[in-house]
Amino acid sequence: LQVDTSWKAARKIPQTLFGLFFEEINHAGAGGLWAELVSNKGFEAGGPHTPSNIDPWSIIGDESSIYVKTERTSCFSRNIVALRMEILCAKCPAGGVGIYNPGFWGMNIEEGKSYNLVMYIRSLESVELAASLTCSDGLQNIATAVIVDTDVSDWRKIEMQLLAKGTCRTSRLELTTSKRGVIWIDQVSLIPSDTYKGHGFRKELIHMLMDLRPRFLRFPGGTFVEGNLLRNAFRWRETIGPWEERPGHYGDVWNYWTDDGLGYYELLQLAEDLAAEPIWVFNAGISRHDQVDITAIAPFVKDVLDSLEFARGSLKSTWGSVRAAMGHPERFPLKYVAVGNEDCDNTKPFYQGHYLKFYNAIREAYPDIQIISNCDGSSKPLDHPADLYDFHTYKDANNIFLMKDTFSRTSRTGPKVFVSEYAVHVDGDTSKGTLLASLAEAAFLIGLEVNSDIVHMASYAPLFVNENDRQWTPDAIVFNSWQQYGTPSYWMQTFFRESSGAVIHPMRLNSSYSGSLAASAITWGDNEDIFLRIKIVNFGSNAVNLTLSAIGLQAGVNTSRSAVTVLTSDNVLDENTFDDPRNVVPERSDLPNAAEEMQAMLVPHSFTSFDLAL
Ligand code: AHR
Repeated sequence: LQVDTSWKAARKIPQTLFGLFFEEINHAGAGGLWAELVSNKGFEAGGPHTPSNIDPWSIIGDESSIYVKTERTSCFSRNIVALRMEILCAKCPAGGVGIYNPGFWGMNIEEGKSYNLVMYIRSLESVELAASLTCSDGLQNIATAVIVDTDVSDWRKIEMQLLAKGTCRTSRLELTTSKRGVIWIDQVSLIPSDTYKGHGFRKELIHMLMDLRPRFLRFPGGTFVEGNLLRNAFRWRETIGPWEERPGHYGDVWNYWTDDGLGYYELLQLAEDLAAEPIWVFNAGISRHDQVDITAIAPFVKDVLDSLEFARGSLKSTWGSVRAAMGHPERFPLKYVAVGNEDCDNTKPFYQGHYLKFYNAIREAYPDIQIISNCDGSSKPLDHPADLYDFHTYKDANNIFLMKDTFSRTSRTGPKVFVSEYAVHVDGDTSKGTLLASLAEAAFLIGLEVNSDIVHMASYAPLFVNENDRQWTPDAIVFNSWQQYGTPSYWMQTFFRESSGAVIHPMRLNSSYSGSLAASAITWGDNEDIFLRIKIVNFGSNAVNLTLSAIGLQAGVNTSRSAVTVLTSDNVLDENTFDDPRNVVPERSDLPNAAEEMQAMLVPHSFTSFDLAL
C-alpha cells in the first residue's frame, strides 16, 4: 500500500463530513438523552380527550379509598387535561393513597444527588401531599418532601428539591396523602439537578456523543418527522415555550407518546453544545400515509419560515423574541435544512411540487441556507435545484462493504451528497451490533472519505436505543436508566473523528486485495504534531501482510508519538453488552517501528489505524 503525501496531490476533506443523526426512535430522547424522569407529565398521553390515557401513572390504594379520573380543568389551555384525585378514606392505609409514576421503565435515583420536582396542584381544602421517591415497588423510601398548603383554591405551582438518601435504578415518584378531599394535579416534572450545563441532557449520554466530535447534528428524524399520518407528525411550534404548555404528541411511527420536553429549541441547543452544525429536517406536508396537495402547502411553507426565524431571527422578530424569552438571545447558526424525510418516491406524487415551494421561499428569505432534497441523485441527475441530496442505505454487511465504491461512480456535477442514514441493518435480524457490521461500515466510510469531493456529510442511524424499547436494531449507543455502552459501530466511528477538515491523500493498494480490504490515508493535526493516518479494514478471514510506504514526506517519522489502533475480536459476530461493554473496543499501542516504509500485519476481520507522527 503506497501513499503519496505530496501536497500537490492532496485534497481537503469537508469540515462537515462526519456528524450525527438524532431521531426520536427507541426512546432515544424521551426516557433517554432527555433527562426528564416523569413520563406523561400532564396526563395528556391520549391527546386532549377525556378520559385521557394516564399511562404509566398508576393508582396507590383500592376503590374504597381513592377515585381517580382525568378532567379538562387544567390551568394550561394548550394542555387542558388534569388529574382529579378524590380521597375517600377517612382512615387511610399507612403511607396514604395517591398515584405513582415509574418514569421510563424505572427512574434512576442516586444517593447524594438532588432532583428538581415541579408540579401544579389545586384543591378546595388545605392539602397535605407527600412527594416521595421509592424503590422496590414502593417498599423502600429514598426521598420525601411534604407539601402542606392551606390555600390552593387556585392552581399553585409547587417547586422543591428531593435529596436521595439511597440509590435505586428502578425508583418511582409517588404523590400520596391521607387527608380526605379532592386534589387536582397537573404537569409533574422531576429532573436530576446535574444535567449537562443545566440544559436537560443526560450527562453520560451527551459525553458519548461529544467523544465522536460530530460536525453536524441532523434532527429530529427520520420517519418521526413524517408520521404515519400528518396529524401525528413532529410540529416544531408545539415543542417550544414553557414545558408546561407543550401539548406533547403521539409519534405514530415508533408508537409512543412524547411530552416534547426535548423540542425544537432543545435540539438546536444540543447541536450548539456539541459544537455541531444543526440540520433541521422538517415535515414537507407529507406523511407516510397521507399528504396535502399543492393547493394546501402554503401554511406549511409559512410554518417552516417561522421555524427559521425562531432559530435565526433578531430579538425584534416575532419568533426570534420567543427564542430569546426561552433563554437564547443569540441566534442559532442554522445553515442546513432538509425538505422532508424519504419523501421522494412514486407513492408520494406531491413531493417535487412541495419541494419547489419550500426551496423558493427559503432561498429567497435565507440565501445562505443549504437545502437538502430527499431525491437520490446518485444514479441520475436531479430535476430540481438543491445544494445536497439525501442518501439512505441499510443493507447486510457484505453489501455495505461492497458499497465502498458507490460514490466513485457518481457524477461530480450537481448537488453534493449527504449520506444521512447508513448502517448494516436487515429487517427481522435481531443482531445488536457486531464487529462484522462495524467493519463493513468502516469500509463504506472509507469510501466516503475517498469520495469526499462529492460526499459532504454522513451519519450513522439510529444513534440510540433504550434497551426497553428496541424497535430498530442495531444502533450506535445502547442504554437503560443508568448504564450505557457503545456498539462496535459506535467505536468504529471514533476512527473517523479526525477526518472532517483533514487532508486526504491518493493511495495505491495492491489490486488483489480489493475484494477484502478498504483503505484511506489522511493527514491531520493536534496541538503538537501532524499525523499521517492510514486506515485499513480487513474484511476477510485471513491475516494480510502488507508493506506500507509513504512517498513525498518532507521529514521523517517521529516514532515517539506514532501509534496503531485496532478494532477486532475473536469472533466476527462478537457484540458488546451491559455485562461486557468493552468486549469489542479499539486497542491502541505505540508504534516504535513507525517509518516511511514498514511492514504491517492486519489480523483477520479487523480495522486498523496507523498514526505516523510527522
Ligand atoms: O433510522 C431508522 C429509520 O430508517 C428512519 O426513521 C427512516 O428515515 C429510515 O427509514
